[in-house]
Amino acid sequence: MNISGSKATVIRRGDYQAPSYQVSEIALDVRLDPDNTEVHTRLQLHRIAPEPVAELHLDGESLELLGLQRDGQALAESAYRLTEGGLLLLNPPEAFILESRVRIHPRANTALSGLYHAGGQFLTQCEAEGFRRITYYLDRPDCLARFTVTLHAPQDSCPVLLANGNCMATGVEEGGWHWARWEDPYPKPAYLFAMVAGDLAVVRDRYRTASGREVALEIYVAERDTGACAQAMDSLKHAMRWDEEVYGREYDLNRYMIVATDSFNMGAMENKGLNIFNAKYVLASPETATDSDYQGIESVIAHEYFHNWTGNRVTLRDWFQLSLKEGLTVFRDQEFSADQNSRGVQRIGDVRRLRAAQFPEDAGPLAHPVRPDAYSEINNFYTATVYEKGAELVRMMHTLLGNVPFRKGMDLYFERHDGHAVTIEDFIAAMEDANQRDLSGFRRWYGQAGTPVVRATGSYDPARHSYTLTLHQETPATPGQPVKEAVPIPVRMALLNTQGQRVPLEVVGGASETVLLLEQSEQSWNFANLPGPVIPSLLRGFSAPVRLQDSLDDDAHGFLARHDDDPFNRWESMQDLAVKALLAAVADSSVAPLPITLRNAVAATLADRQVDPAFCAELLTLPGEDYIGEQMPVVAVEAIHRARDGMMRAIGRHFAKEWTGLYHDLAAAYQRDGLSIGRRRLRNLALAYLIAGEGNSREGAILHARQQYIQADNMTDRLAAFQLLAQHRHHDAEDVILDFYQRWHEYPLVIDKWFAIQAAAPYPKTLRQVEHLLVHPAFDWRVPNRVRAVLGAFAANPTVFHAADGSGYTFFAEQIRRLDDINPQTAARLATPLSRWQRYDAPRQQAMVTALKILAGKPGLSRDLAEVIQRSHP
Ligand code: PHE
Ligand code: ZN
Repeated sequence: MNISGSKATVIRRGDYQAPSYQVSEIALDVRLDPDNTEVHTRLQLHRIAPEPVAELHLDGESLELLGLQRDGQALAESAYRLTEGGLLLLNPPEAFILESRVRIHPRANTALSGLYHAGGQFLTQCEAEGFRRITYYLDRPDCLARFTVTLHAPQDSCPVLLANGNCMATGVEEGGWHWARWEDPYPKPAYLFAMVAGDLAVVRDRYRTASGREVALEIYVAERDTGACAQAMDSLKHAMRWDEEVYGREYDLNRYMIVATDSFNMGAMENKGLNIFNAKYVLASPETATDSDYQGIESVIAHEYFHNWTGNRVTLRDWFQLSLKEGLTVFRDQEFSADQNSRGVQRIGDVRRLRAAQFPEDAGPLAHPVRPDAYSEINNFYTATVYEKGAELVRMMHTLLGNVPFRKGMDLYFERHDGHAVTIEDFIAAMEDANQRDLSGFRRWYGQAGTPVVRATGSYDPARHSYTLTLHQETPATPGQPVKEAVPIPVRMALLNTQGQRVPLEVVGGASETVLLLEQSEQSWNFANLPGPVIPSLLRGFSAPVRLQDSLDDDAHGFLARHDDDPFNRWESMQDLAVKALLAAVADSSVAPLPITLRNAVAATLADRQVDPAFCAELLTLPGEDYIGEQMPVVAVEAIHRARDGMMRAIGRHFAKEWTGLYHDLAAAYQRDGLSIGRRRLRNLALAYLIAGEGNSREGAILHARQQYIQADNMTDRLAAFQLLAQHRHHDAEDVILDFYQRWHEYPLVIDKWFAIQAAAPYPKTLRQVEHLLVHPAFDWRVPNRVRAVLGAFAANPTVFHAADGSGYTFFAEQIRRLDDINPQTAARLATPLSRWQRYDAPRQQAMVTALKILAGKPGLSRDLAEVIQRSHP
């Protein structure tokens, strides 16, 4: 029993058993109707277990069974039993054909798992376990079968009928209906199945693979959105080329389809040949999408495309291996984006995301290894740990092996496992065998939760001209794992002389950069024959997902913030300076908000004409409130907010002239190249500092922002100005808020931003405002993007969500409670901030735990939410 009073079934990795039967062919025949869809399934099953089995379990959920036949005969009542999770076939023969007819209800399916009807379209989502909500099946990733599906639907409401693979035949039937039959030649697990029906327009293009095969590219969207698909299409073609060039992998079907929908639980889904996307990662035009929206599209389109090899051709044995496809594919999409854009800025963004989402997860009650040991609802494990930390583990192997050996390992992995369902162990083994290297330490990385802390100490010996570096590692305990072992940590490093140049390192034949491998709990290295004193640049490029305590003083960080030639480390030094100053101001509000070292570093950055504007903007962006809180034993909610505000104001004032100069110099007509994107970013940062610096004045910067809001020729600039105005303490932006809504109310993705910016305003009155937003006519509990825009932004609003009186928590719990009846997956995911209760002071802790208890007591609590609550407060 647990806090929620339920006894959920726990699935354990160690209990894995190969299936006793396999499906060689599955043929589906689906008559689509929003209220009553009928699914007829024909399965060809044969036993693979050596001995006969007493029963064969087929998964099924929320299915209304209409009929069951075995080898053409109605199945006797004594030959099967319906259970809570599906259907048991008793004493099944060695090989047989099973036909089932079921009825399902797509319109009532607000969980958006299985077959659902939303926005006039029929869509499916089968990962992880949605297929069992369509028909009875062996719904597990190690069951690979060839799929055929025939869709029937009314011609007028559903002129377009799509599924995986190739369209084999179409026809019309009576009553204004038509049908289409699709066949996927590649055996696949059910989680990669998809079908779509609706009134969709299509944007077409073509791609010629390296070996000369023509692939039809098709993006399906609403008619009025056909003009907003260029970024998605370009990104797709770039991703296809990149995978050929970097990994030697070609696409393997004659067409690649992407469908966009407003109703989707996640970002996108890699169904074979028929990706289904959250519209957020497909649609963009300069007027409606920001630069970061464009970048999001590029990376998610690539991510789903890359899954065709890492996920689909080679798939998972079981869900514990999830990071085998997700961590690897995130690594691949990050590298793709780094090649398309600026590598340094890309890495900073990736690490920022890792630290914002994964580090806190790894430090709290929801911590779990990249390869988890147990779950009750697999949907709860699509986490930053499985995705982002998983990508870091692959990246470390890449760092240690090097480019060419890593590619050799990938080649062997594909050669061995194409068409199979495999494990993380198989991946590591391929990397080892291809290169005769021992990577056994990485098995510990996959199995051990928690973020290692690496402590570095070093000293220069002037008499010997040598530098000694000592590194120490320790991983804090996590739930269920009190004792941790050392893991292999690649530490990319260089030594800089007092002019900021890298010095040659004798131990590595005079190279000026190397990767140290810290494998034990403590190790030392000695660098001899140095030309003079040096400053170490450690963990360059963030070469391992650890917390580094470098024991350098402010002067050293100030030096590195100016001179380090590794962009990540230069940025990191700047962040370190800011964090230190902020923590001092949090501890003592009379401390100067802008200490001299930081001020000099900012001045040097502003004066450096060499830095590219995107990187410059990164350097000058202060760490977020959450990240500052992460560095404290107890998060001081209000003091952090005040300190950061104060630092913004001080930097705004002190450098008012520079910010004004940048704001005017960087003005330019809209263009989409990388340099222009960086300039916009820096210019909008300048505006933010100008507004912060002005304090209460309604002159100057506010006027600029109003002007920018009205005159902008793109959404990046318009939204930046809108956000500054809408979240300004002393400025009444009612008119702007109204104007924004009126201009964009027909664009759901833009209206999501409108909701989110209001829910993120850092003032007590925001709670009331959010209550209003939830009853706004444009709010819809069934659309995850909309719900996330309001409740997700609210829970990420430090001073409002964590209001000292607990009002934020109470309100939030009520909304999650409501959402759980509609969409359990999204409710469970949104609820995770409550798990961080241990990080706050006693009154807040109590209020957060009370909120968890309120949720735990909800009648009809979903398995998804129950698991999050139970693990948050065991
Ligand atoms: N597999 C998807 C991805 O590319 C994510 C996803 C998981 C989508 C579950 C829907 C449901 O990362
Ligand atoms: Zn993925």
